[in-house]
Amino acid sequence: MGPIGVFDSGYGGLTILSDIRKRLPEYDFLYLGDNARAPYGTRSFDIVYEFTLEAVNELFNRGCELVILACNTASAKALRTIQQNDLIKIAPDKRVLGVIRPSTEIIGDLSKTNKVGILATQGTVSSLSYPIEIAKFSPGTKVYQQACPMWVPLIETNKYDSEAGREFIKEDVDKLLGQDPDIDVLILGCTHYPIVIDYIRSIVPKNVEIVSQGNIVAERLEDYLKRHPEMNERCSKKGSVRYLTTESAEEFDGNAAAYIGEAVHSTHIKLG
Ligand code: DGL
Repeated sequence: MGPIGVFDSGYGGLTILSDIRKRLPEYDFLYLGDNARAPYGTRSFDIVYEFTLEAVNELFNRGCELVILACNTASAKALRTIQQNDLIKIAPDKRVLGVIRPSTEIIGDLSKTNKVGILATQGTVSSLSYPIEIAKFSPGTKVYQQACPMWVPLIETNKYDSEAGREFIKEDVDKLLGQDPDIDVLILGCTHYPIVIDYIRSIVPKNVEIVSQGNIVAERLEDYLKRHPEMNERCSKKGSVRYLTTESAEEFDGNAAAYIGEAVHSTHIKLG
């Protein structure tokens, strides 16, 4: 038995962990942020895959039976290869899940105009994962995407709430909505973005619904554990949470509280 592993390039996955813990408080969790190598969003397919596989191996070696890639970029660029090629070799009984599928399953039901917008990293946008997945579940839905390359660096460095930070964010939101005035649902397709949800809400028309992934992923994980009792039994349940970071633990602890709403004591580790 072991904790559920939650992985992100940096702090973003903490927004997902926070919602998962609200829904599944009895489970143990082990969070890993690869802060030293964030952001992943502008990195190549091969590098994101290599880094993500290292992180998954690390979490498996530390006892996790189930790992959630709480990062859209890693889910877009590495999840399928890890599920289809690597698991069989490294840990055939363990499982890795991502965050894109749960959001794309429900998104068609939310839009009245059948036009949805995706805000995400360059990597997630160019992978076309959102348009491809949404087409499977809601073939009539038109999907518009906007890459926001500055957002993760602004959020990771706490500069998002400056005049320049707000300017970058507004420019990308305006570009997305400018593609079609009928877009009525925006997906925050990067786990860092819930940190700026209030600002985004303040600059879009009132009829535009903004969807962040935390609740959706938490609900789908609960459902997954119900449907897979053999995996549920292998997830330990003492209500604990531990944090690992590839950057300085002190810096992680100082920043993480804003995402998770409580004091954090992380441990520094090396990957690769
Ligand atoms: N939180 C990651 C995501 O959801 C951020 C990616 C990055 O590091 O650029 O895509």
